[in-house]
Amino acid sequence: SRVEWDAEETAKSGYDHYMLKEIHEQPRALRKCLRGRVDELTGAVDVEALDGLNPSSVQFVACGTSYHAALHGASALREAGVHAQAFLASEYATAPAPVTDDTLVVGITQSGETADTLSALREARKRGVETLAMTNVVGSTAARECDRALFIRAGPEIGVAATKTFSSQVVAANLLSASLAPQSDAREVVEALRDLPGQVQEVLDSSRAERVAEQFLDSEGYFFVGRGYHHPVALEGALKLKEITYKHAEGFPAGELKHGPLALVTEETPVFALVTGNGTEATKTVGNVKEVEARDAPVVTVTDGVSDVERYADAVLEIPETHPRVAPVLANVQLQLVAYHVAKKLGRSIDKPRNLAKSVTVE
Ligand code: AGP
Repeated sequence: SRVEWDAEETAKSGYDHYMLKEIHEQPRALRKCLRGRVDELTGAVDVEALDGLNPSSVQFVACGTSYHAALHGASALREAGVHAQAFLASEYATAPAPVTDDTLVVGITQSGETADTLSALREARKRGVETLAMTNVVGSTAARECDRALFIRAGPEIGVAATKTFSSQVVAANLLSASLAPQSDAREVVEALRDLPGQVQEVLDSSRAERVAEQFLDSEGYFFVGRGYHHPVALEGALKLKEITYKHAEGFPAGELKHGPLALVTEETPVFALVTGNGTEATKTVGNVKEVEARDAPVVTVTDGVSDVERYADAVLEIPETHPRVAPVLANVQLQLVAYHVAKKLGRSIDKPRNLAKSVTVE
């Protein structure tokens, strides 16, 4: 059978919207994604779908939110010493990147039915490359057509805006990375992944996102900046906000602000800055935050409180401390809630935004 989800899983269960329900389902979804895939004692990753895989390079193809998870996955693999790139599926066939006999192409697609992603995966197969579908839907076209399938096990996602599936994709991408390069810092990452469901719960229980949404409801536009692993989440924060609120929002790598976007920054445009830890990336992002503050733009920081970024902030969204690879998932939960509450206060059609479909089956 194609769908294995029961009525309880697909009901709204007292939440005003599926999106909010799905945001709150993240701790459970992440536990399911990890279950039976990590050895309790050694922390070693053991995922059947990945058995025997040893690619010399990995190419991710995906669209929208799944592409943001792909950016994360490619960075994680590169950090672990594996050649990896992320491609927008709709661009993959243009000037195709070189492949070898042992390249692996990974399609990340919640639905497993996105036409652009299926087409990129078919293109890869035509070139004789092994393919893996990272998907939420057992029996989906991607799962059936690819050589391998890694299921993210997030449960049904009804809201058009992808929420819990992004978090599960990031976790699955880290399982992939830990499995392909166990000699890297995989152990620490896996330990952080195990703590993640509880930390997501902490964010859900204590988030001030609704207040921040109220504070910046009438803004002209919204910017999101982050470096390194926070860059995909800056993109994702902006996508979520524009998708369900219809407000203008853009995400940038923090370092790119001064190369153009800074011209758009005014006192009417809050800048959400993602800053965790106090490494070089955090220090540089704090520098960018100061540039923004000097232009009188309101600053909202999503931070674990380790750096001094809060000194420059008009509002703070806190997240617990964790491994740098895992922190973006927590930061993203705060941004999901901000988007949700802005959309709700504006009376938008949150679960079915205008002009959008849950799965896009045309190219
Ligand atoms: C996310 O909120 C969007 N609805 C959209 O970008 C989505 O992630 C994209 O269409 C890809 O869908 P898929 O994961 O089912 O392939």
